Amino acid sequence: MDKFVSSWYNDQSLPESYIFPPHERPGKLLVPRCNTVPVIDLSDTRTNLVHQILKASQEFGLFQVVNHGVPANIMSETMSVFHKFFELPAEDKASLTVYTNDPKRCKLVTSTLDYDREKIHLWRDVLRHPCHPDCIEFWPRKPLRYREVVAACSIEAKKLGLQILELLCEGIGIEHGYFEHELTEDLLLGANHYPPCPDPSLTLGIPKHFDPDILTILLQEHISGLQVLKDGEWIGVRPIPNAFVVNIGYILQVISNNKLKGAEHRVVTNSSDHRISVVFCMNPAGNSNIEPAKSVVTATNPPLCRGFQFKEFVDNFYSMEGDADLALQPFKL
Ligand code: OGA
Ligand code: NI
Repeated sequence: MDKFVSSWYNDQSLPESYIFPPHERPGKLLVPRCNTVPVIDLSDTRTNLVHQILKASQEFGLFQVVNHGVPANIMSETMSVFHKFFELPAEDKASLTVYTNDPKRCKLVTSTLDYDREKIHLWRDVLRHPCHPDCIEFWPRKPLRYREVVAACSIEAKKLGLQILELLCEGIGIEHGYFEHELTEDLLLGANHYPPCPDPSLTLGIPKHFDPDILTILLQEHISGLQVLKDGEWIGVRPIPNAFVVNIGYILQVISNNKLKGAEHRVVTNSSDHRISVVFCMNPAGNSNIEPAKSVVTATNPPLCRGFQFKEFVDNFYSMEGDADLALQPFKL
């Protein structure tokens, strides 16, 4: 039997290695699928958008966007391609599960890359790969339309992300185009598959974390599971048809010198439905210099950290088991 949750979830009760410590468990408390997570209509006027996106990014670090201009068929075809992908027989996916250090390659893993060493496993399987055209030759060949559909969606996701970053730059006073090149050079895709779980109160699809990137653009369907931490409480992100969820990454929080707030979020499971989500993570190039933008640093708002290379942060992030605050610690002033 292989390790992938999707291949055994139906046959077993929740194994002990999936049970989180009591303070991290979601418990039986129902988190309301809350209407308070901001929903921003991107067809609004620029002045309103700058204001609303800034407010949402400062208060929640996470918001949803509608009327964003990404064609609905690209979104639905993308979800459909990933449903088909995760339903493929194991032999079609086998070549993607081979461990490789090559950053250009596709990786299909269960839980995290650290499965063999981690104490608790996550209730998910995940496919990750870079979206850069140079990497397409390594993308899955099946289902048949994977490359065509995912390439179209990643182009749209990046455009949308850059548009939102421009609005944020205007909002906090960072110069136009700041994020356009190096800082968003690497778009990484993650497709999460959370199968139905025998006891969602004890485990998690992903525990509390910040995304270690600039901005994450997330596509989900009608199944809830994503929650955001707001003033010490977990709030469910209500699925809205044809919306994207946007969250401020930890690196954007650093560049904004804490003017914007990275979203701490987690994913809970459910006992009846498969849930699939697709995240597009806008990442800086590994050797790009990350520092609080000069234009947001003042005498009364001194820089919270020194400059560092993005890859130094990422190395710390993985050796600190995904704790972004600890990963930043060596660079703090
Ligand atoms: C992630 C993530 C949320 C979701 O992949 O980092 O937070 O809803 N995913 O799957
Ligand atoms: Ni995340």
